[in-house]
Amino acid sequence: MEESCKNVYITTPIYYVNDVAHIGHAYTTIIADMLARYSRLTGANTYFLTGTDEHGQKIAQSAELRGKTPKEYADEVSGKFKALWDDFDISYDKFIRTTDDEHKIGVQAAFQKMYDKGDIYKGDYEGYYCVSCETFFTEKQLVDEQFCPDCGKPTNIVKEESYFFKLSAYEDRLLKWYEENEDCILPRSKKNEIVNFVQGGLRDLSISRTSFDWGVKLPESMNEPKHVMYVWLDALMNYITALGYGTDEKEMKHWPASTHLVGKDILRFHSIYWPAFLMSLDLPLPKHIAAHGWWTRDGEKMSKSKGNVVDPKLVADAYGLDAFRYFMLREVPFGQDGDFSQKALMDRINSDLGNDLGNLLNRISGMSGKYFDFKVSSKDVKKFHQKELDEVEAILENVEEYLYKMQLNRYLEDIWKVLTIANKAIGDYEPWNLMKEGKTDEAMALVALITNIMARVSLLLDSVMPEKIGKIAASLGITINNETYTSLILNKELIADTTITKVEQLFPRIEEVLLEQAKPAVVEKAVAEVKSSKKEEKIEEDDNLITIDKFFETSLKIGTIVAAEEVPKSKKLLKLQVDLGEGRNRQILAGIKEFYSAEELVGTQACVVANLKPAKLMGMISEGMLMAAKDENGLSLIRPETPKQIGTKIS
Ligand code: MSP
Repeated sequence: MEESCKNVYITTPIYYVNDVAHIGHAYTTIIADMLARYSRLTGANTYFLTGTDEHGQKIAQSAELRGKTPKEYADEVSGKFKALWDDFDISYDKFIRTTDDEHKIGVQAAFQKMYDKGDIYKGDYEGYYCVSCETFFTEKQLVDEQFCPDCGKPTNIVKEESYFFKLSAYEDRLLKWYEENEDCILPRSKKNEIVNFVQGGLRDLSISRTSFDWGVKLPESMNEPKHVMYVWLDALMNYITALGYGTDEKEMKHWPASTHLVGKDILRFHSIYWPAFLMSLDLPLPKHIAAHGWWTRDGEKMSKSKGNVVDPKLVADAYGLDAFRYFMLREVPFGQDGDFSQKALMDRINSDLGNDLGNLLNRISGMSGKYFDFKVSSKDVKKFHQKELDEVEAILENVEEYLYKMQLNRYLEDIWKVLTIANKAIGDYEPWNLMKEGKTDEAMALVALITNIMARVSLLLDSVMPEKIGKIAASLGITINNETYTSLILNKELIADTTITKVEQLFPRIEEVLLEQAKPAVVEKAVAEVKSSKKEEKIEEDDNLITIDKFFETSLKIGTIVAAEEVPKSKKLLKLQVDLGEGRNRQILAGIKEFYSAEELVGTQACVVANLKPAKLMGMISEGMLMAAKDENGLSLIRPETPKQIGTKIS
């Protein structure tokens, strides 16, 4: 974020359409929305972008699994994201979809420019690919020769013709950029990781694929109909195509971005590939790339595949959207991970919002009503309370700085210090005694001091809790806009005489958790729907439950392990020969060496996934998978309770 009267451009990542929105996604979006709202209040010319990332192998596979075309599937999920943000009153200026024609044209224009510049060349890619992360890896980067170092899922061997971007040529320029722009990556700890990574050397990046076709085609002039663009190249470009790059460029005046908000898992793409692409395009680089941590549940990153997601809509419906926004921004220091807990959310509501903020407003309306018929005048505030005003101003002068550094929790902490000054002043000056003693001017000055503090706090909290602050402002008789911001915050003026209106209690106390805690959102949602006696069939449609037919697409069989040996140089793998009654044994490579010895397996039975596409691991074919369950006590193979005939179907 930059100071007022400037262009401010804030972005969220564009969300993959293979996932339901959960509080992790809501977190990124709420931070961005807060920054955008604040920036608008300060008078900056603000543009806020969000959207969905719809191409790539992962989306194509998810669509196929559901028997839909990728576009049908993307339309459906993108629509859900947009509906959620609209429901949350997210103040985006544009919602981009990577399937938009303008975007595709823009990406092609960028590709062409990079190619014409000599930064793109054709070659062959051979390596490993994680579809879940849509990321290429070298063999050395894999965990146990097979698994993605980022998400832990198995990778695929990819060997195909590909175009490459000369990323290695940008190593020095990237290092120079990091060095010369202290805050280009926030927080600093994350920046150090990136600098170290780049210092370790960059390889050229494969930027096209030929093995599937759900992506943006290369520019027509290149005559390469088999190739589609690598999804991350396509996706990153959204930040400029949304402004019309390559089509109608009139919004390009917003470029460069002030802040790209991202989660820590996608920082590398944003702080290495993206600036290198921009350098190649001769475009200025973003001012800040700010990486937040993960919301976890019981210490694990939330994701649909783990079934541990918390549905942000349920939380907001139960506890209130503004309280949820406040909690997300206040609870966890930016950049760190945080475990989602309803108890912590309740504490924030009851203590910070109810006791400190809501109650202060009640006291203003109580005191002004009782003593002054709701009229408040600031005329004697300076005379009696210069000390408190100075204290407040000393704190508020520095809070904006926290926003520029993305220290959102400290921003809020300091605003709460100001609320403490107000609450304390009431106790110190005891306006009820002042009234008894006939010191009406002093009592009025005290009430006006508190009202002024509340007015300033409201301006600074409007971006965090727009709905509730709207009500507070209305109660104080002030308007939240740039004019008031300039007068009360920048010029430190006092409010004009005003009349207080009573409002309902803004943050009623919550005595017990409102959502069934331990259950994943899928279950919570189902329970909520049943409670509100909606039809059960909705559950299937919303939560991607599968039909029995889908289940039977997987062929599960009982097999006997007839031979087993260790795979040399592998910590995890055993090479097994498994008889499934097919007249020949299957070779299966299983990552179970730490838990079973080769000898003890021979002659035992196991459950085998029998219709997996063969995969190559460490140069050897594997023709199936053994079913196993792993927890903190180790791994156990899943086996029939009593021996079954070889090849028996599991159903
Ligand atoms: N499509 C890419 C981004 C492309 S941007 C050019 C992507 N999408 S995503 O849907 O998987 O993730 C979007 C954002 O949500 C990321 O910033 C990611 O870090 C964030 N989160 C996803 N799960 C999260 C948590 N559990 N907690 C906090 N944020 C996390 O990556």
